[in-house]
Amino acid sequence: MRKKLLSAGIVAAVGAGVALTAVAQVRPDVQVKQRQAVMTLQGKYIGPLVGMMKGSVPYNNDVAVRNAAFLDALSQMPWDTFSEATKGESNTKALPAIWTNAAGFKKDQDQLRSAVGALNAAAKSGNEANVKSATGEVLKACNSCHDEFRAK
Ligand code: HEC
Repeated sequence: MRKKLLSAGIVAAVGAGVALTAVAQVRPDVQVKQRQAVMTLQGKYIGPLVGMMKGSVPYNNDVAVRNAAFLDALSQMPWDTFSEATKGESNTKALPAIWTNAAGFKKDQDQLRSAVGALNAAAKSGNEANVKSATGEVLKACNSCHDEFRAK
């Protein structure tokens, strides 16, 4: 019954051109899985960039351009699944501060988005030193949000 309502809701919402409202109807445990999946993929695509930054992987600008572009898409995806409905879920490390300090959480999202934007610009310009320092800024943005909003 619930499933039926859910898919009917999504179809109706998409049909009406307001797909975003459908997110609120996705089961909380599924939202947790979705955001963790996006986070995992961000980890996957920042990985080689961090390797290049540290010098453990040879610099490859094509990889930098591709991974930066993937991060540009991924870094927009997790946020609409941090609904308050997911607060009590057992399988999440999301801290309550996400909802009590929503402005701070949003600020950290914006920080990531802007760091990823700079990374994309650096990769497109093919400037290795800039790509490396921009990677460091992206990593800082990941970590500062985790420090404040993710359980250890
Ligand atoms: C604005 C806050 C924020 C930013 C920025 C952020 N994360 Fe996260 N991340 C979280 C939260 C909160 C969780 C816990 C999600 C949960 O368990 O529901 C998380 C979880 C994770 C996880 C664990 C996923 C799992 O399966 O449990 C990884 C890996 C991760 N983030 C990587 C990254 C990387 C890499 C970046 C930067 C490119 C990043 N995150 C940026 C908030 C953030």
